[in-house]
Amino acid sequence: MNGAPTPPVNLQAYEALAAERLPRMVYDYYAGGANDEILLRESRTAWDALRIRYRVLRDVSHRDLSVTIEGHRLDWPVIVAPMAFQQMATPEGEVATARATAAAGSGMILSTLSNRTIEDVRAASNGMVWFQLYIYRDRGITAELVRRAERAGCTGLVLTVDTPILGRRERDLLNGFHVPPEFPAPNLGVDMRSTLGAQSDMSSALAQFILGHWDAGIAWQDLAWLQSITSLPIYVKGVVRGDDALLALEHGAAGVIVSNHGGRQLDTAVPTARALGEVADAMAGRGTLLVDGGVRRGTDVLKALAMGAQAVLLGRPILWGLAAGGEAGARRVLQLLRDEVDLAFALAGVRSPAEATRDLLA
Ligand code: FNR
Repeated sequence: MNGAPTPPVNLQAYEALAAERLPRMVYDYYAGGANDEILLRESRTAWDALRIRYRVLRDVSHRDLSVTIEGHRLDWPVIVAPMAFQQMATPEGEVATARATAAAGSGMILSTLSNRTIEDVRAASNGMVWFQLYIYRDRGITAELVRRAERAGCTGLVLTVDTPILGRRERDLLNGFHVPPEFPAPNLGVDMRSTLGAQSDMSSALAQFILGHWDAGIAWQDLAWLQSITSLPIYVKGVVRGDDALLALEHGAAGVIVSNHGGRQLDTAVPTARALGEVADAMAGRGTLLVDGGVRRGTDVLKALAMGAQAVLLGRPILWGLAAGGEAGARRVLQLLRDEVDLAFALAGVRSPAEATRDLLA
């Protein structure tokens, strides 16, 4: 033994490393969930509870993990989820994430609440970049963000619908969470700080900003409005029910992301591993179907595909990779997960995402 630190062996180990490196306030903001964090925990255990009916003797010597999502070929079926304020993890922020995902043959969704501009992030990647947005009371702000995303070359819009109001995140309340002033929010459309004045309790400031600017009154017809101002495909993120997924398709969405915001909004909501099957059945192959929440293992990705998702979004582990080693750290997290997906496919007798079918699940 030469005393060199052992490299993290799985995604959970990256979280442990990030917890050591990040200020407590930042770690808790990234890691935490709403209220009692029951959903946060169940987001994981619901994947763990599914069992794989693997197939044998199927010549798995060649495996191809690639998928095509709305014309984008990804080397493997994982896309990085939109997550706010990534400069708190690494100085380059979302630009580091963009480079890491492009290098990993993956895609990325950029949050409205990012620290780097849409333009800088788009320019840092030659791969798939979608932009995530909310609908503002002032529709002009939303329309301008859509125009910026289009001009920058984003190829999809993600409308997050599980956050009409910010969830109650008690770790943030206890820590007096705030976004340190050196970190800008250039895609917000309005200046968060000038709107709010100098507040020290930015947890409630963020919640107040959302109350003041995002429209809690949006409904299905607003999806039609969003569609009327853009030619980009729109994915509705935050759906956990089959009937809502059908409404999304009826109102012109190109697809649905089964998500509950990583357990950060409505505590004790249904975990996505349990909601996905119902949504897949309702959509019956129409539109793109993605899922996120608690995906930490290659077997989770296999299970999500078997249940009917075309790809999976990965959230917090990317922040842990960024905190552990910037762009290279995020890249290593993606490589680790990709190797696990490949192994899960091989051991389950699955040679391509198309072969990941429902009968694999018990
Ligand atoms: C998020 N998420 C999120 N979603 C979104 O649509 N817009 C956003 O700005 C954010 N911001 C955000 C910040 C942080 C710190 C986290 C952890 C999450 C939710 C995210 O896109 C995704 O749904 C979940 O994180 C997926 O769950 P896992 O993989 O983190 O368990």
